[in-house]
Amino acid sequence: MTEPAPQKRAKKLFIKTYGCQMNVYDSDRMADVLAPIGYRVTGEPEEADMVILNTCHIREKAAEKVFSDLGRMRSLRAERAKKGAGGLVIAVAGCVAQAEGAEIMKRAPFVDIVLGPQTYHRLPELVAKAARTTNGRGILDTEFPPEPKFDYLPAPRGQGLTAFLSIQEGCDKFCTFCVVPYTRGAEYSRPAADILREARGLVADGVREITLLGQNVNAYHGATDSGATWSLARLVAALAEIPELARIRYLTSHPRDMDDGLMAAHRDVPQLMPYLHLPVQAGSDRILTAMNRGHNRDHYRRLVEKLRRHRADIALSSDFIVGFPGEKDADFAATMELVREVGYVQAYSFKYSARPGTPASGLREQVPEDVKDARLQELQAELTKQMRAFNASCIGRDLDVLLTGAGRYAGQLAGRTPYLQPVHVQADAGMIGTVARLRIVGAEPNSLTAAAIAA
Ligand code: SAH
Ligand code: SF4
Ligand code: F3S
Repeated sequence: MTEPAPQKRAKKLFIKTYGCQMNVYDSDRMADVLAPIGYRVTGEPEEADMVILNTCHIREKAAEKVFSDLGRMRSLRAERAKKGAGGLVIAVAGCVAQAEGAEIMKRAPFVDIVLGPQTYHRLPELVAKAARTTNGRGILDTEFPPEPKFDYLPAPRGQGLTAFLSIQEGCDKFCTFCVVPYTRGAEYSRPAADILREARGLVADGVREITLLGQNVNAYHGATDSGATWSLARLVAALAEIPELARIRYLTSHPRDMDDGLMAAHRDVPQLMPYLHLPVQAGSDRILTAMNRGHNRDHYRRLVEKLRRHRADIALSSDFIVGFPGEKDADFAATMELVREVGYVQAYSFKYSARPGTPASGLREQVPEDVKDARLQELQAELTKQMRAFNASCIGRDLDVLLTGAGRYAGQLAGRTPYLQPVHVQADAGMIGTVARLRIVGAEPNSLTAAAIAA
């Protein structure tokens, strides 16, 4: 009898993701490209043979956090060496890597690989190269290669009932505060056929809800095999023909690209959920112009009106920046007024953070930190009030809930309403994966409770 060949130990990969949903998608894809060379994902950095920090450069705090986390990774590596557990490959990916690759190599020379968001399909090659490198220096790959990385990535597998699907990347809008056009590069739309194939695969794996992702997702203009160009509205219509796909969402939209076809899709396509993240950033025309947003307050208001004409119950969410250079009390008051007028169910608000290389960072009239703090508090208080009021208004209503998994307590399931609110309900686990019409009986600040479903 021959001895079985010794099993090669699967190597473990730990990925920490910062920033936006696009980074979440990218982290999963990096795990996919490393799987064929033996890496399996772990949630424990202590047991990893390789760590990837998938970073975000959007605000200073996010970017600085990477350097402190890198220090921690270095200590992990030292502990492993002490235990004789082998080396630890340390990689930095994402938007900080793209923007500050050389700086990372200088400030953290123990990093093995620095790679930008457009080159992660080359990861296996980079890992092999890093293993061969003997000069103790890391490898930097922050090119914007002419070939789109999507052509080189394995088809993602659906895990669970909801999935992200990147359809568009990059940005040509150059808002004066924002690093994204520099870190992600020019706008690129994936071909429609590739997206449909990926979506069908996800649905075959059990996914019932897909969120289409892009830095400017509604600027989508993808090529078809016949040489035509599809808008996001057209793509949504095609996705809606996939029988088992119950829900479609998209993120993040720009007001400038919100065309009539897409707004009408909210009326015409039942699978397209009545929830829209449509960042306005500020309510003052003077500030919107200084931000180079390419839309004013009135344009935004008209979009909201039109959307509500098509779909009366559409729930809106937005991003806001307070304390943009030159923002006066009257400008901030205009933001507050717009918020009260529109009414949001969800929102993300930030203090302006000056980012290197962006036009606004060089403007005089930077707003003092204490003024930014006070404005942020006032804005967040109003937004929280609106969110609570919306949740409370759902009590007594029957809402369709996609049941996505087990809840926190025994016998409880968790799900989401069309408006993206988390819902908890006592129900049998057999209901997971279905869309159930549930009576809402309770509202917390961030979630809803539905009446138990009888077994
Ligand atoms: N493409 C999206 C936004 C992507 S960045 C859009 O155009 O809406 C996500 C959010 O981060 C932005 O909407 C903005 O509110 C915030 N943000 C971007 N740069 C920032 C900065 N320099 N300071 C503070 N917040 C910023
Ligand atoms: Fe940044 Fe503006 Fe582009 Fe959004 S549209 S990613 S805020 S530059
Ligand atoms: Fe951050 Fe890059 Fe996303 S800067 S918000 S991770 S596109």
